[in-house]
Amino acid sequence: MSKLITILNGPNLNLLGLRQPEVYGTDTLDSVARDCAAVASTFELDTELKQTNHEGEMVDWIQACRNTSAAIIINPAAWSHTSVAILDALNTFEGPVIEVHISNIHARESFRHHSFVSARANGVIAGCGVQGYALAVQRVHTLLTT
Ligand code: DQA
Repeated sequence: MSKLITILNGPNLNLLGLRQPEVYGTDTLDSVARDCAAVASTFELDTELKQTNHEGEMVDWIQACRNTSAAIIINPAAWSHTSVAILDALNTFEGPVIEVHISNIHARESFRHHSFVSARANGVIAGCGVQGYALAVQRVHTLLTT
């Protein structure tokens, strides 16, 4: 059976493509899911992509990954900058974790410069647009095979 990469997305990313397109672009989360699945299939990896606006649900999903997933790619969105709970949940997961931000959080408001999640992440991709997700899939493949 192929290994599964779970791609988790935090608040407001359900509106990707509609929300602040000048910052986040016009691609939707559905097209991100298709791109990631296509890249992952070249490595014989499976992907699932999920999004929630509810922090507790995100914690539950991260915990569930302990039994289902070889790696997590996460765009925690605003929770990056606020949530110790999501950091703690990720610290219960033993596989690779890649943090993705569509925008370059370091070139934006100062409150976006710090991410709690980065303390756990094996890698952080920011400012590469939605392409960052597919790059993260490539990085997960490297981490799972070396
Ligand atoms: C984001 C950056 C965050 O600061 C913001 O709250 C988001 C999206 C990004 O993908 O660039 O919702 O994580």
